Amino acid sequence: MNGQYVEADVEPATRLSTFLREPLALKGVKEGCCEGECGACTVLVDDRPINSCLMLAFQAEGLDVVTIEGLSAGGVSRLQQVFVDTGAVQCGYCIPGMIMAAEGLLRANADPNEFATRHALAGNICRCTGYETIVRAVIAEAAARRKEEARS
Ligand code: FES
Ligand code: FES
Repeated sequence: MNGQYVEADVEPATRLSTFLREPLALKGVKEGCCEGECGACTVLVDDRPINSCLMLAFQAEGLDVVTIEGLSAGGVSRLQQVFVDTGAVQCGYCIPGMIMAAEGLLRANADPNEFATRHALAGNICRCTGYETIVRAVIAEAAARRKEEARS
């Protein structure tokens, strides 16, 4: 869990999102619909974005789970900062899930075009931004990562 080994007893029906928010106090994981419709609860499991409200906590045994807190363990990550800088954050409720979905995309695809970005974020609902700035932020971050990679 965010790079740490976590051992816990959980009730069989406990959702992963609830387990993350309550005993682990990872409140960046939002529970919106709890039906897999809004994406607010998105986390990475073994590098792939999933709706943590649709996974049971015990199913995460042995897997690598990363939440927004894990992404920003060393301070605000550049992806988060790009969201701020491009005006992609308004009320902010959708943003942790949106950023985790974006991070999943960027780990799988170093050069996503607009279509691929919109497709990857299609399961994440934002009521505020109209998505344009979010898509712009993700594409800008992809370009920054490619530039960094080329320098190294
Ligand atoms: S809370 Fe999980 S998809 Fe809405
Ligand atoms: S910023 Fe408000 S729901 Fe996305």
